[in-house]
Amino acid sequence: MAGTTTNTVSKTFALGGDLTINRMGYGAMRITGEGIWGPPKDHDEAIRVLRRAVELGINFIDTADSYGPNVSEELIAEALHPYPAGLVIGTKGALLRTGPNEWPIDASPRHLEEALHGSLKRLKQERIDLYQLHRIDPNVPAEESFAWLQRNQQKGLIRHIGLSEVTVEQIKQAQAFFPVVSVQNMYSVDNRKWEAELDYCQQHNIAFIPWYPLAGGNQDALSKLTGIGQRLGASPQQVALAWLLHRSPNILLIPGTSKVKHLEENVKAADLQLSAEDMAALEQLG
Ligand SMILES: NC(=O)c1ccc[n+]([C@@H]2O[C@H](COP(=O)([O-])OP(=O)(O)OC[C@H]3O[C@@H](n4cnc5c(N)ncnc54)[C@H](OP(=O)(O)O)[C@@H]3O)[C@@H](O)[C@H]2O)c1
Repeated sequence: MAGTTTNTVSKTFALGGDLTINRMGYGAMRITGEGIWGPPKDHDEAIRVLRRAVELGINFIDTADSYGPNVSEELIAEALHPYPAGLVIGTKGALLRTGPNEWPIDASPRHLEEALHGSLKRLKQERIDLYQLHRIDPNVPAEESFAWLQRNQQKGLIRHIGLSEVTVEQIKQAQAFFPVVSVQNMYSVDNRKWEAELDYCQQHNIAFIPWYPLAGGNQDALSKLTGIGQRLGASPQQVALAWLLHRSPNILLIPGTSKVKHLEENVKAADLQLSAEDMAALEQLG
């Protein structure tokens, strides 16, 4: 029956089993300059975005040492430190920055060491709640990066470990070193390359954190999202986010924005109910 709603989606996820995360989070990559390089055009708006995110109930913020570089982590500390209880900041290391839009990989233990200590300092923390290996380095055996992560978790500098842009095989390889609590791969309603990884994560209670969740570069997707949104009084972006929340209960969202207006709009997507018919129509875009 058209308009029938699916089950209400759960609002939270237990990251690593012990951190209760609201599934609607915030990605702090866009509060930097063009090409994710240097300071943002509007510093005060970036600060407002971070503070408003917390006011709206967001308790998971994704960042990386490479966003700016350093800028995103510094702004998070400027806006939010001392951090409210329960706020989880996930950062990442393994990318160098050589200019706007340039991201060479270095997941050598020597670089990761420097990256982790830099993040701890900028974020003004003694331990990172979620440290994500930004990329596996084709020039460094993955075991070396994994062993470094394991050592720093044992030292107490990292609480939980996540991975980014990894295959099921790579997740399994890492699981021999430490519990993998999250996987951050590019995924959206019109980009389903990592479907097998999402399913593996769901089966193993690993958070799946899609980056570039709004996508929408595809015309067919945009017109379907717009059509459903018009019926529900929602924007196509809200429908794209709601689809992800309905797709799988282990998905955590980190839509990125530099604007309070977009942040507020995105957060409302957590309350949007999609019917089984809407889900089926959007499913075909994959
Ligand atoms: N692991 C990785 O390799 C990796 C790679 C890329 C990103 N990430 C993480 O994933 C997060 C999300 O990815 P993303 O920022 O690339 O993509 P995204 O969240 O899909 O899209 C962000 C873009 O959409 C715009 N936007 C946001 N909300 C909007 C709205 N309601 N209406 C219209 N436009 C809107 C933003 O512009 P405005 O600023 O104008 O709102 C921005 O240009 C990042 O912030 C970062 O934390 C991880």
